[in-house]
Amino acid sequence: MNKDIYILGIESSCDDTSVSIVGDGIVLSNVTASQWIHQKYGGVVPEEASRQHVESIIQITRDALDQAGISKNQIKAIAVTRGPGLIGSLLVGISFAKSLSLCLNIPLIEVNHLHAHIISLFIDARPVFPMISLTVSGGHTQLLLLESYSSFKILGQTLDDAAGEAIDKTGKLLGLGYPAGPEMDQRAKSGQVVFKFPKALVPGYNFSFSGLKTAVLYFLQKSMKENPDFILTNLNDLCASIQKNIVDTLVGKITDAALEYQVKTIGISGGVSANTLLRSELLHISKQYNWNLMIPKMSYCTDNGAMIAMTGYFKYLNGEFNNDRFTPMARLPLTEI
Ligand code: KG4
Ligand code: ZN
Repeated sequence: MNKDIYILGIESSCDDTSVSIVGDGIVLSNVTASQWIHQKYGGVVPEEASRQHVESIIQITRDALDQAGISKNQIKAIAVTRGPGLIGSLLVGISFAKSLSLCLNIPLIEVNHLHAHIISLFIDARPVFPMISLTVSGGHTQLLLLESYSSFKILGQTLDDAAGEAIDKTGKLLGLGYPAGPEMDQRAKSGQVVFKFPKALVPGYNFSFSGLKTAVLYFLQKSMKENPDFILTNLNDLCASIQKNIVDTLVGKITDAALEYQVKTIGISGGVSANTLLRSELLHISKQYNWNLMIPKMSYCTDNGAMIAMTGYFKYLNGEFNNDRFTPMARLPLTEI
């Protein structure tokens, strides 16, 4: 059954070029080139991102094939991110995927990046449906009731900034590098939650994080007037306080949803799910309620080809193929999978 189904997955929606081979539902390789060049600009420069994808995609694909120990002629289909993402970056991955599928005469499978983040939950673990899942990254914050691999109800999402975006923007105010998530996480471990920032009171399961950025900005401006070294001397405490504010909101909404829908399993995916405090607070709450907690391993939290290849594998088994006429989509709702 399902023998030797090798799927090549390509992810290039933002600033990571990542290619993976999934064979019969198992990740055989997942090779990522992260683009550090954006650090000096304090954010992703779209034109620069596209150029970097062009430069690395062929070598990354060769490496992914080598590490999986297969040749390109053994691939059965190519899965590629269609969107949402940066249009130029997506275009590189999609053009490459189309050319390769033409040369190898194998089908193409388009993948919605948001669907792939959900599927990343199931790369190393079998799901128990229904479950509550939160996709939480630099571009998205989406709370879902999952009923199967491909059917779900969107319970809520951010009305403005994504959680990762809030971390990156407040981190920038503190002078942290881009993206600020990993450094804020590290510094928060040595800090105390001494500063209280307001939380947006958004009813239901929607989120809003843009007010936090403004609150932090005004607080820093005021404090720096009194003490020009304020950020420097309080950096770890500021990181701990901002992180706690965001994590409390995320954990609170996940918990409310899990209780309302009476599920026994919760999960988080996307770049922010790498966050130490978020992981430990969810572990704590899961123990308290006897819930099963699903979090992808670190390399599947941030953008990666494995989640694209795995989504492609499920679509392959369902016979969901695409012709070569599809185009990249900067905006692509999760309902289009
Ligand atoms: O999923 P991802 O790689 O790209 C998007 O699709 O957006 O997520 C990137 C986001 C960034 O905002 C980054 O700051 C955040 O994930 N991030 C973290 C951590 N590692 C990455 N946020 C908090 N704690 C971390 N350890
Ligand atoms: Zn992502």
